[in-house]
Amino acid sequence: MKEYIEKPVFPKGFLWGGSSSSWQIEGAVEEDGKTLSLMDLNSRKKKPYADDTYASDHYHHYREDIRLMAKAGLTSYRFSISWSRIYPTKDGKLNQKGIDFYNDLINELLNYNITPIVTIYHYDMPVWIDKEYDGWYGRGIIKEFDKYARTLFSEFGDRVKYWLSINEQNMQICYGDWLGIDKHPDTWFKDKWKVNHVMNLCHAKAVIACHELVPGGKIGPVPGYVPIYPYSCNPQDQIAAMNAEELTEKVWDDLYAHREYNGFIKNYWKQYQINPDIRPGDMELIKQAKIDFFGLNCYRSNTAKYCSQNDTSQAYILNKTGKKGGLIFPKVPGLYQLVRNPYVEYTDWDWEKDPVSLRYMLRYVWDHYQLPMIITENGYGEHEKVSDDGKVHDPERIAFLREQIKQVGLAIQDGCKVFGYNPWTFLDVLSTGNGMSKRYGFVYVNTTDEDKLDFRRIPKDSYYWYSKLVKSNGENW
Ligand code: BG6
Repeated sequence: MKEYIEKPVFPKGFLWGGSSSSWQIEGAVEEDGKTLSLMDLNSRKKKPYADDTYASDHYHHYREDIRLMAKAGLTSYRFSISWSRIYPTKDGKLNQKGIDFYNDLINELLNYNITPIVTIYHYDMPVWIDKEYDGWYGRGIIKEFDKYARTLFSEFGDRVKYWLSINEQNMQICYGDWLGIDKHPDTWFKDKWKVNHVMNLCHAKAVIACHELVPGGKIGPVPGYVPIYPYSCNPQDQIAAMNAEELTEKVWDDLYAHREYNGFIKNYWKQYQINPDIRPGDMELIKQAKIDFFGLNCYRSNTAKYCSQNDTSQAYILNKTGKKGGLIFPKVPGLYQLVRNPYVEYTDWDWEKDPVSLRYMLRYVWDHYQLPMIITENGYGEHEKVSDDGKVHDPERIAFLREQIKQVGLAIQDGCKVFGYNPWTFLDVLSTGNGMSKRYGFVYVNTTDEDKLDFRRIPKDSYYWYSKLVKSNGENW
């Protein structure tokens, strides 16, 4: 294969966009009939502060935000819908004001020829669903999720043709505590597979309903993808990397694409005496849910090494502070441990800065599943503030994204079918655990975790850089 030295070429009509989620961007958590989600409650408990009561106040600024997107030349925007804005209470009554908000948002995007890409569920479980059905633990959620998804398809499907089912189901299972889904830490090791199965059934319901109700509609899952490299050419490290690959992403990808549980996980359940509670009819339902594409979120890679069964050394600690070096990598004795990669640099949150991870992911998913792919998240989180000149200078983000996007182009040259790139995020939103202390946007939002300011939008240097890139369809670096 030839060594690529020329500039990557992006196909005509490639969707250049940005990405967000309702609870991280909207605010207005109890306005116009919306009730609280578990994320609204949990975000208030996270330190450093991540309270989403106001978030980026997009609920009141969306027209201005979309104007900025249009000015930058964006051709797509991925956002999620808040379930508790659509169905706020257990009596099942539709909240017309919630429908109106998303109708306005979608119409405004379309006025500027920006293609909407909608995520049905991005971590924000309505409190009433949780109380009524025990969240993802009970099977009662399945019919409610089906009803909610069908409502979205009927209300918005005439204009929205790209749909995403559940954001990062794999990450919600792997990091259940952090993302608020694990309710009983002592039994999560086994419970997670029942919870995951319920999520698979909800995903399947959404896929089936989309094809039924949205003319020309396409739907895919959104795994959070972290390619796994073996630490060395020691064959044991290779097997460890394969184990990590299975238990963090391949089990999910195989299920979505092949619509059955793979041999690895069935064997794993047997070895650890885990019963995922698969009931008659479940697999038949999943079999019908044929996805159209993969949405893929990717920020970094991981590196895996052999881990002995008896290794009881220090357990996993997530870097929640943004102070470099706080992370203790996770390990699964007998299967794998994740370790520091000496070939890449790290962000302040100890995330690998590895542009090649995108090319690797696209090659991997294309090789395994031969389905079209769209990048639904990728980005660089940083502590940021307004400079004395009134501007926001973010050269690290530009350098990071330039290299990442180049790798998407190279994957396309490798033969992968990729139809869009939607980085996280267009404008600053709350980070899952670090609020506004970890910003990702091309546009600065003037507010902080400590003080509610005026939410003024200030395009950062990266906004102008990204705009040039987008308007030249990836030619102007
Ligand atoms: C993705 C999530 O995994 O990572 C987003 O889908 C999240 O919701 C993003 O914000 C970045 O993570 P964090 O923790 O830096 O906000």
